[in-house]
Amino acid sequence: MKTLAIGCDHAGYELKEYLREKLLSLGYEVKDFGTYSHDSVDYPDIIHPLAEAIDQCLYETGIIICGTGAGASMVANKYRGVRAALCWMPEIAELARKHNDANILALPGRFIHPDAAWEVVSVFLSTSFEGGRHERRVKKIPPIL
Ligand code: RB5
Repeated sequence: MKTLAIGCDHAGYELKEYLREKLLSLGYEVKDFGTYSHDSVDYPDIIHPLAEAIDQCLYETGIIICGTGAGASMVANKYRGVRAALCWMPEIAELARKHNDANILALPGRFIHPDAAWEVVSVFLSTSFEGGRHERRVKKIPPIL
C-alpha cells in the first residue's frame, strides 16, 4: 500500500492527528511532516518540505491542513509537480481527482468537522483521474518559468 504524506500547522494539528490515526488503522503508511503539537508554527515551514517531497515523487499523495486550507494550498502549488486542491465536501474532492488529477488534498482545519473531513479524504483517496480532455487541461497548468 502506498505511503501518504500528511502535514499541518497548529490550526490543523487535531484534525491531522485524527486523520493520521484513521489512515494507520486502515493499513495506510503515513509519513508525518508535522507539526507535532498545538504550539504555533508557520505553515510554510511544514508545507514546503511536504510539497517538495511530492514534487520529487517521493510520495504520490499528500494531505495538508491549516486553519482555512488556503495558506497551505498556496505554498504547495508553488511546486511544478504539485496540484493541491482545497476541498471541504466530498463532491469537490471527487472532481478534484477526476478532473484535475489533484495529488494533494488541502483541508480547512478550522472549518470542517472531523467526520466530514474523513469523508472528503476517503473520496479523494478512492477516486481516479479520468484523463481524456482533462489530461489536456492539466498539462496546461504548470508555470511558464
Ligand atoms: C493560523 O492562525 C492560520 O493563519 C493558518 O492556519 C492558515 O489558515 C493560513 O492560511
